[in-house]
Amino acid sequence: MNLAIVGTGYVGLTTGTCFAEVGHNVVCVDNNEEKVKSLWQGKMPIYEPDLEEMIVSNVSAGRLRFTTDLVSAVKECEIIFIAVPTPPHEDGSVDLSYIEGVSREIANALSLDLEYRIIVDKSTVPVSTGSKVQQVIERYACKGVKVDVVSNPEFLREGSAVHDLMNPDRIVIGADSLQAMDMMKRVYQPFNAPIVEVDLASAELIKHAANSFLALKISYINAVSAVCEKAGADVELVAMGIGLDKRISRHFLNAGLGYGGSCFPKDVKGFINVAEQLGSPMEILKEVERVNAAQLERFLGRIRKKMWVLRNKRIAVWGIAFKQNTDDVRESVAVKLIKRLCDEGAIVTAYDPKASETGARALEGYNVTICDDMYECARGAEVLVVATEWKQFAMANLVKLREVVRLPIIFDGRNIIHGENAIHAGFEYHSVGRKNLYPSDKKM
Ligand code: UDX
Ligand code: UDX
Repeated sequence: MNLAIVGTGYVGLTTGTCFAEVGHNVVCVDNNEEKVKSLWQGKMPIYEPDLEEMIVSNVSAGRLRFTTDLVSAVKECEIIFIAVPTPPHEDGSVDLSYIEGVSREIANALSLDLEYRIIVDKSTVPVSTGSKVQQVIERYACKGVKVDVVSNPEFLREGSAVHDLMNPDRIVIGADSLQAMDMMKRVYQPFNAPIVEVDLASAELIKHAANSFLALKISYINAVSAVCEKAGADVELVAMGIGLDKRISRHFLNAGLGYGGSCFPKDVKGFINVAEQLGSPMEILKEVERVNAAQLERFLGRIRKKMWVLRNKRIAVWGIAFKQNTDDVRESVAVKLIKRLCDEGAIVTAYDPKASETGARALEGYNVTICDDMYECARGAEVLVVATEWKQFAMANLVKLREVVRLPIIFDGRNIIHGENAIHAGFEYHSVGRKNLYPSDKKM
């Protein structure tokens, strides 16, 4: 099938590439000329495992193209996916101006000589956005064009986006027309995944409700971690014990510094806002946000308590990205933590395997040195903080690390370093929701 994807970001680029991979002809449209030019030159705008190889092979097979020309894409493609940003406004409501703008551009490009077209919303949007897009099309397109609007939310996680897209748990298609539903099912037929066929509004709600539920799960275990710290229990054991119940599952029960990224914070806010607008407030999600913010504060409080004064303390931070396997720093808790440490006068160094450049931009104006090597970052540190769950931090050579730090104190905000190994290497080990470990605790 001929498919257009408007918005070539984390969502649009990976989605378009995976569609090409299964045999569709895909044109990725973006209004950023630079981005389109560099994609043609094989330069990746983002880091996402396996994506580059897949783009290169599909471009050379002629199934994947990039353009700024939305009008031609609408003429050539039977289905047009919208994957442009839906950022939050100050008050938490969702800024739908990019969606509205792209919908109008598509409407203007729809001429009577074109066959039936489907416009698919891939971006995360509040419920009833689809019907508003339909109204925009009706208002701006020539009378008589045959168009349906569909909601097809995306559930990919950054860092494993290609895998998630190629092996989805389910595909959600929200359509109020049979013809649209049938065509959408053909798009996804090669993926061999269960298809959830629902109405437009339900599909939109599934996305907000799913992301908010995952955020709720993380806040739940983080709230439990605070109790564990007081009670001297171990949140990892508690998570294992409750996660083995299939009704609960161990996934998304990792206690840490809280959730960040371009989705959970904005989607929880968006859902709170839309529920309020509809007169059915989701107070439970306000608590999810409160717990999320408190998690970083409690962790900072523990570092402060240990070090007494942070001013002029050398603090090394491992991790800048909002999670492992990505260069994305949007709403990264690691970035928030670094900013807070700088504000308190600490001398901060930071290291991230992929997010040095994006991190440097996000931390502009802050007195932080970004290092190319994790051990160099830790050299001379009085505290080492682990802020992102990168595997290479879990695998660190702790003996080598002990040789470079000034004081052997680790604060592991993601519970990924092996505590026993840390104390064997001579470190004090502080983590989330677990007892502090000291070298004197070590068992022979
Ligand atoms: C975005 C939204 O943030 C998310 O809510 C939604 O679910 C999917 O789209 P993401 O792909 O991470 O997620 O955004 P981003 O990486 O910022 O990419 C958006 C792209 O759209 C950019 O390349 C931008 O240049 C492009 N764009 C934006 C357009 O082509 N036209 C526009 O009008 C606006
Ligand atoms: C999320 C959803 O998982 C995905 O389905 C949706 O399409 C987009 O939003 P993403 O934001 O890319 O994906 O990453 P995710 O792996 O969900 O992590 C989000 C945040 O939660 C990260 O900051 C991560 O560190 C944190 N997290 C995740 C935890 O703190 N604990 C966990 O157990 C899992």
